[in-house]
Amino acid sequence: MDRQLISHIAHRDHPIAAPIDDAQLERLLRRARLRPEARILDLGCGGAEWTMRALELYPEATADGVDVSEAALTSAAGEAARRGLTDRMRLHHLAAADFTAGEPYDLVLCVGATHAFGGLTETLHAVRRHLHPAGQALVGEGFWEKPPPPQTLARLGAEPEEYADLAGTVNRAEDAGYATVYAYTSTRADWDEYEWSWTGSLTRWALDHPGPDGDAALAAARDHRDMWLNGYRDILGFVTLLLRLGSR
Ligand SMILES: C[S@@+](CC[C@H](N)C(=O)[O-])C[C@H]1O[C@@H](n2cnc3c(N)ncnc32)[C@H](O)[C@@H]1O
Repeated sequence: MDRQLISHIAHRDHPIAAPIDDAQLERLLRRARLRPEARILDLGCGGAEWTMRALELYPEATADGVDVSEAALTSAAGEAARRGLTDRMRLHHLAAADFTAGEPYDLVLCVGATHAFGGLTETLHAVRRHLHPAGQALVGEGFWEKPPPPQTLARLGAEPEEYADLAGTVNRAEDAGYATVYAYTSTRADWDEYEWSWTGSLTRWALDHPGPDGDAALAAARDHRDMWLNGYRDILGFVTLLLRLGSR
């Protein structure tokens, strides 16, 4: 089964593809205090839940969402139509690094998608090219809660330097020329809600679709759950940084 389709099904009950709940998402977006007609860009938007919530909170804003997943963008387009947001939201089926725009943005999001640019530092350099000088970036990134043991790194296919600890993650952002104006650090409960939703939604779908696709979905759910429970639970953290341009 296609990985993009598996991810799409896995996010049915938790449309934010990150360990963050709706209340925290709203708090982060409100804290950005955008001007009414703000321009918003979401790089690696997935199902575009962040984008749509931003448009609902700022009813005169417009947004561009960019993603390589056709399944996620199709779902985003359907949900935008259902919520009456189609006129203010453009979706681009494109690699984030290839997106260009004629005008700068007030807010650029990249949550759980810094791999699209090769890491946090590279993402922040790319985001800078899209930002108005007084604009803000909202970037969600993993960090090591504890030094990762070799077996966790192997399961994740990660290198130790791929992430820093929390302080090191903030330093990486600030070394790239940003100041941290707010942040949310996901809790264990946020992670549990995200991962039980991910694995549970896929398992439910698998049981409803007996046959080769159902078998593949069930195997993917079990593999993911094992990687989480026997791998990165309490080791991998997640922080969403609200950043403004400004060097130390
Ligand atoms: C973990 S999801 C996060 C989605 C969304 N930001 C959210 O928080 O709900 C990562 C997203 O990045 C997208 N992605 C991965 N590589 C990409 C690339 N090179 N360009 C654009 N999107 C990419 C994936 O398709 C996926 O939708």
